[in-house]
Amino acid sequence: MVYKIAVIGGDGTGPEVVAEGLKVLKAVAKKHNFEYQLEMFDFSGKRYLKTGELVTEKDIEKLWQYEAIYLGAVGDPEVKPGILEHGVLLKLRFGLDQYINLRPVKLYPNVWTPVKDKGPEEIDFVVVRENTEGLYASTGGFLRKGTPDEIATQVSVNTRKGVERCLRYAFQYCQKRNKRKQLTLVGKTNVLTYAFDLWERVFHEIGAQDYADVKREYAHVDATCMWFLKNPEWFDVIVTDNMFGDIITDLGAMIQGGMGIAAGGNINPEGVSMFEPIGGSAPKYTGKNVINPLAAIGAMQLLLDEIGEGKAAADVEKAIIKTVANMPSMAAGKMGMSTTEVGDCVAASV
Ligand code: IPM
Ligand code: MN
Repeated sequence: MVYKIAVIGGDGTGPEVVAEGLKVLKAVAKKHNFEYQLEMFDFSGKRYLKTGELVTEKDIEKLWQYEAIYLGAVGDPEVKPGILEHGVLLKLRFGLDQYINLRPVKLYPNVWTPVKDKGPEEIDFVVVRENTEGLYASTGGFLRKGTPDEIATQVSVNTRKGVERCLRYAFQYCQKRNKRKQLTLVGKTNVLTYAFDLWERVFHEIGAQDYADVKREYAHVDATCMWFLKNPEWFDVIVTDNMFGDIITDLGAMIQGGMGIAAGGNINPEGVSMFEPIGGSAPKYTGKNVINPLAAIGAMQLLLDEIGEGKAAADVEKAIIKTVANMPSMAAGKMGMSTTEVGDCVAASV
């Protein structure tokens, strides 16, 4: 089989880091004897400024035909905030029904963490973020906009189906991961008494019925932030809604060494998934060959896992671990190597 992979470089440093991920793909495909075909898609701020085009229904239709999508970054300082986020990134996530955002938080040996006295033993968990509902559903609007009596509402949408499919994925992921077999629901049941009441009920209902081997825990989102720093070793797999997942995974990225190394996947388990570094487009580093491509390379690792090339994925991770052993820092410009050299290093270790 020839894997068809759609590639979206996107904005800022996105195309640079994607190029390094593709370099690693080339090396690992050769080693593991599989073939792939790339197709580039230009969904970027530059194109939007020139033509006014964003991701269309037709684009989405076309993208359903790929085995996976590899994305660099979305965000251009010249474009008003919200346009590319909604018109490109969220359009893709929602359009392809990628209802899971999978974000591993794993500290590799030799990578600096700001958390004192914690190392790779303690920082190794995965966040399963719901990716199509919650506050991101954009339900709401303005009333009497611009007047002193203005009202703005933004409603969190939580459907039984959406919550259940996310929880089931998290339970199954926890079983497959087979470490501590502990799934922590992160919410705010003490204040958001409707949304997280639903989450909590479904969590225990299906957990007891179908995943009795998985230990169920619950934590409030604010306390979770505290524990990420104080006791990150308490977590194995976390499941949470879209907004909380967005917030806690930035904190997660910091404790695993920063945005330079944090990768994620937007997953439709029955469809087409999209993999990306979780940091932004870092416009100020664009074209300087200083940005860290490891997050994008880690995203390639997740992509390989999802399309069924688990051995290739494991090799990419080993190569990342070998590469970080020689890097003084994960931060742009401080890696002791250029962007392309880091990519070369990983590709060579593969
Ligand atoms: C992320 C980003 C996006 C999000 C933005 C760019 C829309 O912060 O992938 O975490 O909020 O999901
Ligand atoms: Mn985010």
